[in-house]
Amino acid sequence: MAEEHFLNHAAIAKQGSDTIFSWWAKYQNAKNAGVDAVNATIGALLEDDGQLAINKVVDNAVRVAPESEISSYAPLPGLPQFLDLSKTLALGDARGYLEKAGFHISSTATPGGSGALYLAANNFLERGQTTMLRDRHWEPYKGFLTNNGLECKTWPLLPAHVSDSHPYFARIEFEETLAGLCSKQSKVMVWLNDPAHNPTGLSMTSNGRSTLLDSFVSSALMNESVGHTLLIDLAYSLYAEEPHGWADTILDAIKSGMMWPENLLITFAVSLSKSHTIYGLRTGALVSLHPEKEIIDRLETVMSVTGRQTWSAAPRIAQYCVSKIHSSADEGLAWEDEKNRLKQLLVNRRNALKVACENLQVPLNPTMDGFFAWIEADNPVEIAESCASEHVYVVPLKGGIRIGLCALPLNQVAKVAQALSNAFR
Ligand SMILES: Cc1ncc(COP(=O)(O)O)c(C=O)c1O
Repeated sequence: MAEEHFLNHAAIAKQGSDTIFSWWAKYQNAKNAGVDAVNATIGALLEDDGQLAINKVVDNAVRVAPESEISSYAPLPGLPQFLDLSKTLALGDARGYLEKAGFHISSTATPGGSGALYLAANNFLERGQTTMLRDRHWEPYKGFLTNNGLECKTWPLLPAHVSDSHPYFARIEFEETLAGLCSKQSKVMVWLNDPAHNPTGLSMTSNGRSTLLDSFVSSALMNESVGHTLLIDLAYSLYAEEPHGWADTILDAIKSGMMWPENLLITFAVSLSKSHTIYGLRTGALVSLHPEKEIIDRLETVMSVTGRQTWSAAPRIAQYCVSKIHSSADEGLAWEDEKNRLKQLLVNRRNALKVACENLQVPLNPTMDGFFAWIEADNPVEIAESCASEHVYVVPLKGGIRIGLCALPLNQVAKVAQALSNAFR
């Protein structure tokens, strides 16, 4: 093919047609044709009237920002006040205790959470090594990994044998997969989108988090020569019931005497896209935690150099505005009120979907927080097509159906449950 003259092997392997956007387009076509179509496709939070939900406190701050804050480059690592804020957004109240306990924290500003994931993929494993993901994950993970020469191996989202103490963490499968990689690799890395997982809305419980941490730390202690990096993807965390659950779990473990092995790094991919409704302003950070200052200083250099060599500096405007909002008690509270209003939209829609699915015996997966809900299905495209025949649009992904609660008006939730019920029958 002519493309082979120009494109390398990696480029030729890249396929277009994003599933989510193609099902969103189907919804839009139906709507434009005058049909009363239901949208549970797109991954942006919409008000019940279908308009994009916008946190007005952030929007107002952007509109009145000084020209120079809009036009200038940010410093390569990020604006200092934003780097400080990103640590608090990732760790919440636990941050101060962790710092007092002797931990050091690095942060590098990135173009969204995607930029943070890219930094991790680019720097934490050797080329050719394998990253661990849960079997249900955000599809673009694979692209970030592949583009950095990494493979991935999955473990199940839910355990085969349900454990009462951690029903949403497949400990045995996790430990087996991790042990397999430790026997072959000099470094291992786990990517975990929790709380408020995309695409299921699952949040691990406090017990699930501490069990995973315990497994990971034990593996690091047993495999002293293998670097262990745990990346927590916080893309939707500020809409979750326990937004800083991971930092609290880490702090509790330390207070209970957990040994922090030198070969353990915990890092957080922070995204402001959803929490501050600034998807297009491309702002996030990679925040890392370790007891040794030299390691943290070195990470700061490496991450900011990687950013420089990839996208230059992350955009300045949202770093400036969001730091300003959170440095004022009044504005911070106003942002939080608005964020809580948006969160309530999700809570109402999720509760309604759970009730409707239960009444109709639709096998909804456990779903607690964030933008999505999920149903496992062997034939997701057939199910989505059946729903579409009733003008209900959901997204068929590998292993199931993603229901975009973020896009779905409350008064149309029942229609989705009914269409799914018909499809499963
Ligand atoms: C699970 C997950 N992680 C990270 C991101 C990154 O978001 P962004 O790059 O827009 O901040 C997203 C966005 O949809 C996501 O769903």
